Amino acid sequence: MSPDNATSEDPGKVVIFDTTLRDGEQAPGISLDAVDKLEIAEQLARLGVDYLEAGFPVASEGEFEAVRAIARGVHGPVICGLSRTNLADVDRCYEAVRDADSSRIHVFISTSPSHMEHMLKMNEAQVLAEVRSGVGRAREHLADVEFSPQDATRTPLDFMLEVLAASVEAGATTLNIPDTVGYGIPWDFGDLIAYVRREVAGDYVISTHCHNDLGLAVANSLSGVRNGARQIEVCVNGLGERAGNAALEEVVMALKIRADQFPGLETGVKTEELSKTSRLVSRMTGYQLQWNKAVVGRNAFSHESGIHQHGVLMERSTYEIIDAASVGQVGSQIVLGKHSGRHAFSETLEKLGIVIKGDALNAAFARFKELADRKVQLTDADLEAIVAEEVGTAVESGYSLEVLEVHGGTESVPKARVVVARDGKRSEAVSEGDGMIDAACQAIRQATGIKATLTGFNVSSVTGGIDALGDVVVQLESEGVKVSGRGVSTDVVEASARAYLAAANRMVRARARSGSLDGTRRVEVGP
Ligand code: KIV
Ligand code: ZN
Repeated sequence: MSPDNATSEDPGKVVIFDTTLRDGEQAPGISLDAVDKLEIAEQLARLGVDYLEAGFPVASEGEFEAVRAIARGVHGPVICGLSRTNLADVDRCYEAVRDADSSRIHVFISTSPSHMEHMLKMNEAQVLAEVRSGVGRAREHLADVEFSPQDATRTPLDFMLEVLAASVEAGATTLNIPDTVGYGIPWDFGDLIAYVRREVAGDYVISTHCHNDLGLAVANSLSGVRNGARQIEVCVNGLGERAGNAALEEVVMALKIRADQFPGLETGVKTEELSKTSRLVSRMTGYQLQWNKAVVGRNAFSHESGIHQHGVLMERSTYEIIDAASVGQVGSQIVLGKHSGRHAFSETLEKLGIVIKGDALNAAFARFKELADRKVQLTDADLEAIVAEEVGTAVESGYSLEVLEVHGGTESVPKARVVVARDGKRSEAVSEGDGMIDAACQAIRQATGIKATLTGFNVSSVTGGIDALGDVVVQLESEGVKVSGRGVSTDVVEASARAYLAAANRMVRARARSGSLDGTRRVEVGP
């Protein structure tokens, strides 16, 4: 290991390892299928992340397929899959990532006394044996192998060193130090990274993986870099288990804006793509961004007080340390209206970096025309939302919404009538509900006969203004199968009905898959 613990190829590079599609997807209520994952993965590639952890292939048949589709179809980043140490997991992970241009297997096992006693029911010798065999097997498949001692920050130091040394001997090329429960404090976590570097011999890159339970994930990651870490594991918008992981956009911009504190170091991220990536992930996951979110929140470049506004008008840098354009935060542009044709539509999508073809493009154009008739001008953000809805629905041949009628108000019981159609057959239902949205969803439930529990519901407006498009994400669960659906409309009741129907269609597909392949269910012991 060189004294600066840099990657052997490029001593100044901080490798950005994105785990939005693995750890990020473990955030409660998020459920991405292969199509969603592929779309996000393509954007992450445009963003320029170095590594893309696409999932945990052994978790389910659906997850395996999604990781394999990303490995086969996404170019640029190294594609990584997560694996426990058992040999069957490692082999399955390899099968999922092997077709990528470059691939990595990330092997993990818990090493803290609490996890070993209560979860693994293994002693230290058994864990060491697992590390040797799991990492060794991964290394038989690939030259690029990462190892993580889970719950590292609550693992006794001596044992952690023994485990890490064993993993290096078995062939690990990256040692990741996960602060699994977000227990670290910046200077303490930094010392831990420095300690590992000093004590564990070998040629490896050291990496951080910080959770945000104390709101310190980004600070801990940066402290890791100060102490020699040259890979940082991050999620877009700080998604992830519980309070999430270090936010990609915050880590990258801290390294860029305070380059004086990280001399000679840089990432390969194209920061102009940050806002777009953040919006896409927010929409696909249904996790809305807080308004004051650093770097990508809608208030990140708004100034309220007169003094601040005056200062910024005179000279932007008076109150802004980041140039909004450098993170792609440009106000929504009006791009198309109801007279725009198909050619203009697809050209505009191309300019926005959205690549869709065939049926998905036809469906998105038809939906654009419908909405353009109701909303005079559509912005780039509107177009992104329309495409996100259509890409999610076009892949499923399921029910479509033909009619929606709702009645409500302060003095009458909310009621909805829907007509849905599938394979040319129409079915109609009328229902009451707690509100108009509830009534519409109940009516869809009756008309389709698809039963599931509503576990998540999220409404956001795509842009500001009274005629803004409403963007709704619905999550449904049934017998352990979780799906989500999205709907966009000038009317939030209609957007909700569309989202509910899209999720219901997906549920049918997911259930069919899990019936025939025993798929979609997560394995009991997850990361
Ligand atoms: O938080 C964690 O420990 C993890 C590991 C699988 C790296 O996500
Ligand atoms: Zn994690």
